[in-house]
Amino acid sequence: MCGIVGYLGQREAADVLLGGLARLEYRGYDSAGLATLGDGGLEMRRTVGRVKSLVDSVAAAPVSGSIGIAHTRWATHGRPSEENAHPHGDAGQRIALVHNGIIENHAAIRSFLEQQGIRFSSETDTESLAQLIGFFYSRNGDLLGSVRQALSDVQGTFGIVVLCADAPRTLIAARRGSPLLIGVGEDEYIVSSDASAIITHTSRVVYLEDNEIVTLDPTGMHVATIDAAPVEKTVHTLVMKLEEIELAGYEHHMLKEIFEQPETLRNAMRGRLNRQTGEITLGGLKAGEREIARARRALLFGCGTAWHAALVGEYLFEDLARLPTDVDYASELRYRNPIIEEGTLAIAVSQSGETADTLAALREVKTKGAAVLGVVNGVGSSIARETDAGVYLHVGPEIGVASTKAFTAQVAVLTMLALYLGRRRHLSAERTDLVLRELEQIPDKVERALELSQQTKLLAERLAEWDNWLYLGRGVNYPLALEGALKLKEISYIHAEGLPAAEMKHGPIAMIDPGMPVVVIAPRDHTYGKIVSNIEEVRSRDGRVIVIANECDRELERLADEVLYVPSTIPCLSPLVTCIPLQLLAYHTAVVRGRDVDKPRNLAKSVTVE
Ligand code: M6R
Repeated sequence: MCGIVGYLGQREAADVLLGGLARLEYRGYDSAGLATLGDGGLEMRRTVGRVKSLVDSVAAAPVSGSIGIAHTRWATHGRPSEENAHPHGDAGQRIALVHNGIIENHAAIRSFLEQQGIRFSSETDTESLAQLIGFFYSRNGDLLGSVRQALSDVQGTFGIVVLCADAPRTLIAARRGSPLLIGVGEDEYIVSSDASAIITHTSRVVYLEDNEIVTLDPTGMHVATIDAAPVEKTVHTLVMKLEEIELAGYEHHMLKEIFEQPETLRNAMRGRLNRQTGEITLGGLKAGEREIARARRALLFGCGTAWHAALVGEYLFEDLARLPTDVDYASELRYRNPIIEEGTLAIAVSQSGETADTLAALREVKTKGAAVLGVVNGVGSSIARETDAGVYLHVGPEIGVASTKAFTAQVAVLTMLALYLGRRRHLSAERTDLVLRELEQIPDKVERALELSQQTKLLAERLAEWDNWLYLGRGVNYPLALEGALKLKEISYIHAEGLPAAEMKHGPIAMIDPGMPVVVIAPRDHTYGKIVSNIEEVRSRDGRVIVIANECDRELERLADEVLYVPSTIPCLSPLVTCIPLQLLAYHTAVVRGRDVDKPRNLAKSVTVE
């Protein structure tokens, strides 16, 4: 949510900053801006809209300097406008600041500064921090001291980079609850909220932790806590590859990521399954082995798609591991004073590893005594670092705002985790072997399901005009109904609802008419007979039925307007294949509707504010 880049080196800062913003744009894209410091002093450009507008503005009125900061915004306080775009400055025009996060006490700071005669020029929370730094700086002339003082006064979350007109070779960055990394290049530093803006320049990075502040200047990198205790940092090597964030000939990142799934699933499972011994090796769990062995209950949590994966996980944990399991929205878990009994194994599920609600829930359950595992894609992310142990997804960067390959990997990892727990409890060697055998075949089956792309495209051309869709599923495929509806909503802006199929007759059936597509997920499992009855109920009310069925199942052609056939697998693994046509249908529908698939309106890839 919002993207930050800072540069200090020998090159033209604007080139590095704009290149970085283009890579970060999936994080937020309603306005953008930059500030550089060169012969012309502190120069700032801000524009509404995509990074491209900023590029055009800088081309029309170039800025100079080999130090600078930049930002791409996802509005929280104040609508997208030039005044509200970052960087923000102080009244004395010495300070420029970019910020991710939320300053919760901005109103109090603003009112205090206004009483001192300072005039504000934006509606943002961020400006209160820029002005506060400037206020202290105008009194003491100590830049680092002023940033520290201001940060100790603010409540909320921040990842910031500060530039000062009086310090032409110094950048100051700090974080609390919002990620920041420092790329360490040859004679240069690139600060960013996301590795993708750094990887083109260097793979050597330092991760800033919460409450740390760094000064970058010609003498090097100096890290300390905000209250001035020195900190030793380690330089890490990024595992990300440049080609992973390129489009590679696909029209959209989302489509590329959908098609990557056979490979990402192989990567998620590589080296972790052993059919000969029935062992599941999840190296990242070593540190939590004792707590896992003592687990009496699991509590899975996440947001959006990750929450849907957690719901699938609930079925798997209870079915395969016989472990009582609850699932909660991270945002609700945090605020409802959860009861954490002894033996609670809490599992945070998150692609980015930076989602603010998930991070806050993690901290809450940890404080209450739960052992916390992470199922995370973002290597070195906040959630990965704050959990006791965990399993990485290994799917590479997910750029499309709509999560696809992370979802299937989350489900695959939760399946492996269920088997791992099951083997330490009551799961028989025979059933383990059956699931492992099927799991190994899933990437090939996903490959076959991807052949539905053309059929879903034609279907989308027929259905895209309809404004209300329903998705139905039962058992382990009920979360898939939610996921299918979310995918469609977020990228095509069509209203869609996911339901457990049987719930339809308790109210939503009133909405069904010939103008409502109803997508039913109906693999051949123990709920099949019941779901066929649900399809009949929709048909009797003239609903348009699109069914996702197993390849062998010709019976449903009689009842459905369209059948999307996916390869059969065992029931507990079916979400890994049934999700493919759901993703493709949402993608093609959004394209037919002319939507900006990878950057849907009002959204951002990683939601780092609560
Ligand atoms: O990075 P996370 O997995 O923690 O993100 C959670 C949700 O914000 C995310 O899954 C969101 O719902 C996606 N846009 C769904 O496609």
